[in-house]
Parts: sequence; structure tokens; C-alpha cells
Amino acid sequence: MSWAALIPAAGSGERLGRGPKAAVAVGGLSLLQRAIKTLAPFVDEVIVALPAGLELDAEGARRIGGGATRQQSVLRLLEASTAEHVLIHDAARPFVPAEVIVRVKAAVLETGAASAALPCADTLVREDAGTYGETVERAGTWAVQTPQGFRRSDLLAAHHAALAAGYQATDDAGLLRRCGGQVALVMGDPRTFKVTTPGDLALAEALAARWEA
Ligand code: CTP
Ligand code: MG
Repeated sequence: MSWAALIPAAGSGERLGRGPKAAVAVGGLSLLQRAIKTLAPFVDEVIVALPAGLELDAEGARRIGGGATRQQSVLRLLEASTAEHVLIHDAARPFVPAEVIVRVKAAVLETGAASAALPCADTLVREDAGTYGETVERAGTWAVQTPQGFRRSDLLAAHHAALAAGYQATDDAGLLRRCGGQVALVMGDPRTFKVTTPGDLALAEALAARWEA
């Protein structure tokens, strides 16, 4: 049984405002290098999707060009791999404890598909024209993270179906579910937050100082 880590890293990092995020360094290592190093021990191959024309150091990984959206980048990664199982992981999440990866892989082997996620801790509310609207029952809500694991053929079929239907999803678990699949939720980790804004980068810098890369 073979595993690939597929890392979408082709975004432009607009909200962070520092150019393509994959190239941004925290604690002396780029987000991309951190993602590759974290996942490599758990898989047979690592493939990264990079912004077209950007020559980034991706030691330990095969590089391909990404697409205009995350979904397109993941589809290209799926088509570039021949592995039986895949872990999809955002380059923008540089800190993943090993036990999260182990949990996702185990759940994939048991159920076919799994995503790391964290139970929501904050009160959730819908905005009502800029004001505090209806609260959303928090019990049973999770914030979705990566890695997400799948049988490659299942996720590829879902991507092809989504493409044909013009359906867009912000993550692969949602896309598979939309196509009729089931995805197990496994416990993620607060340190696996996505570096999205300058504030996240400050947190990442602080965490990098105590992280064994
Ligand atoms: N991604 C990708 N291809 C795209 C867009 C995004 O591979 N065309 C990747 C990003 O590189 C990132 C992950 O998907 O690792 C999650 O996306 P996000 O956090 O939104 O990153 P960016 O799109 O780069 O940031 P922004 O939306 O602020 O521009
Ligand atoms: Mg984006």
C-alpha cells in the first residue's frame, strides 16, 4: 500500500501580503519546507504544487505547477501521483504534530477518508447586517484543518465530478462529501492553524522557536 503527501502551495498569499506564502519563512524555514519535512516520514512520495514560474526550494519533494484555485491545484496533484492513498495538506499549515498524521492515516485505512478538525470553542453567531444575529448551536461543530486523507481514486473521481458540475469547495473533504462520500473527523491540533493573516505569522514565529522541525 502506497501513500503520497500532496501539498497545495500555489496560492498568492494575498491576505498575508508577503508574496506567495509557501516561500515565507518562519524560524528560518519556509512554510513549504516545514510542510515537506513534517509529512515526508509518513509517506512514500511528496508532491508540491507551486505558483507557475516560482522556483522554490522543495528538497524532498517533486514539484508541479499549481492551478488558479486550490481545487485546481489539488486536482493536478492527484493526477501527478500514482499512490493508492493520499494525504492532502496545506503548505500554509506548517505545524502538524506526528500523532495527528498517524490518526488521519489510521482512519483512512479504517473508513476510506478522514480529516483533521478541532471542536469549535468559541460562541458561533451569524451576522445580521453587521450586528450580532442568531447564534449557531456550537455543540457538534468542528473547525476543519488538514491533513485530510483519501483513497486517491475516490478523491480523483470526486474532483472530476465537481469539475463537470462546476462545483467549488474550499477543501477536499467537503468536495468528497458533496459527491456522496463520507469523511471521518479525527482530532486535529490548535497548533495546526492556517497562516492566513499577519497576526497568524506572528503566532507562527513564536511557535517555530519551540518546534523541532
Ligand atoms: N493554494 C494552491 N493553489 C491556489 C490557491 C491556494 O495550491 N491557486 C494553496 C495555498 O498555497 C495554501 C492552501 O491552498 O497552501 C490554502 O490556501 P490559502 O490559505 O487561501 O492560501 P493563499 O490562497 O495563498 O492565500 P490568500 O487566499 O490570502 O491569497
Ligand atoms: Mg486562498
